[in-house]
Amino acid sequence: MTRGKTNAAANGNGRHFKTLTATPGHKNGKSKPILITGGAGFVGSNLAHRLLSAGHRVRLLDNLSRSGVERNLRWLIETHGDLVDIEVPDVRNLSVVKQAVKDASQVFHFAAQVAVTSSLVDPIEDFEINARGTLNLLESIRNTDNPPPLVFTSTNKVYGNLADLKFTKGPTRYAPLDAAICERGIAEDRPLDFHSPYGCSKGAADQYVIDYARTYRIPALVFRMSCIYGPHQYGNEDQGWVAHFMIRSITGKPITIYGDGKQVRDILFIEDLVDAFLLAQQHMSRLSGNAFNIGGGPANTISLLELLDLIAELHGGELSIHFENWRAADQRYYVANTGKFSGLTGWKPKVSVPQGVKRLYEWLMASSPQLAATPVAVPAVSRTLEAGKL
Ligand SMILES: NC(=O)c1ccc[n+]([C@@H]2O[C@H](COP(=O)([O-])OP(=O)(O)OC[C@H]3O[C@@H](n4cnc5c(N)ncnc54)[C@H](O)[C@@H]3O)[C@@H](O)[C@H]2O)c1
Repeated sequence: MTRGKTNAAANGNGRHFKTLTATPGHKNGKSKPILITGGAGFVGSNLAHRLLSAGHRVRLLDNLSRSGVERNLRWLIETHGDLVDIEVPDVRNLSVVKQAVKDASQVFHFAAQVAVTSSLVDPIEDFEINARGTLNLLESIRNTDNPPPLVFTSTNKVYGNLADLKFTKGPTRYAPLDAAICERGIAEDRPLDFHSPYGCSKGAADQYVIDYARTYRIPALVFRMSCIYGPHQYGNEDQGWVAHFMIRSITGKPITIYGDGKQVRDILFIEDLVDAFLLAQQHMSRLSGNAFNIGGGPANTISLLELLDLIAELHGGELSIHFENWRAADQRYYVANTGKFSGLTGWKPKVSVPQGVKRLYEWLMASSPQLAATPVAVPAVSRTLEAGKL
């Protein structure tokens, strides 16, 4: 964060925040910025990079509470300099959120408390960030003269632990007995069933976004996302398991598997998610008011054990793995049916699991001296309360 000027001010929580603005004179000086909350995070920085590369002005609002994300910020500033506006307050602060939204042309809302584990330790903070923070944003959008279109990232956790599904257990993975789910995955007509404070806060935010589109007619939609992975992800034991397993392998540290490792997820490479975000904004008038399941879908699934095999192939050597009890509410299987969004926009994931995993591996290897120098911190809570991951 070497560019721009900084201003210190007190935020609503009594803490101080910094505002970093790019130096004046950028090529798109008069264009309205695209606002990304949580813009220094994994998903936010990748989207910001794509938008900035296309010449858009981007405003990032992020309190930098996620360990490692300051590296993403540095990368964006070094790569794009004057096109980036960076604000470092908190989504819990309504007045700064209002200010950030005021002249935005589009909004992507990613800022969140992202770990089930932390939500179990401090449900109020989790609620304040995820539910109240989203309401702050929605109110800010509603009170502008020309509300900018909003894309909000929810989670597949809004469907609960899917305890009613029955599975067969193969050598490396679970498979659902229901042929339709096996073939297509879980669709949006699945009843909502919030589990854990994190599930409740994200689920509440998800429903607020849909209702603001309905009641106040603001243009807004929800992505209920499966596991996303790719470069600039500083995964830890609580969130970002694909990157977490790789970082542990590269840095020669043991990996803990909760359960038997046969849990199956559809995983989506970040570039494919960014394509989906752009399509969502492009088709907002048709899509507003809807929630969409977004993930790799049935063509891009992997179990934890299978990922470890892939990493062993890429990295060589022995991985150190040990097993612990299942985490609370861990889904044996979650695969998104992405047909609703694909049908309306033509979107399809392009990057296969082996290709994407290799790209993440290569990026991590290139940045591993940095990783070794500043290890990604696992929040203290995860050591005592290990009860679920995104
Ligand atoms: N990555 C995934 O696999 C995945 C899956 C489902 C849903 N999601 C959702 O997508 C969004 C982005 O996830 P990500 O993987 O990029 O996570 P991330 O942790 O990398 O990014 C979130 C960012 O929000 C910031 N932040 C946290 N609290 C804040 C606050 N109070 N005010 C301002 N900024 C704050 C963090 O510093 C971080 O940079 C989140 O809303 C997450 O719940 C992610």
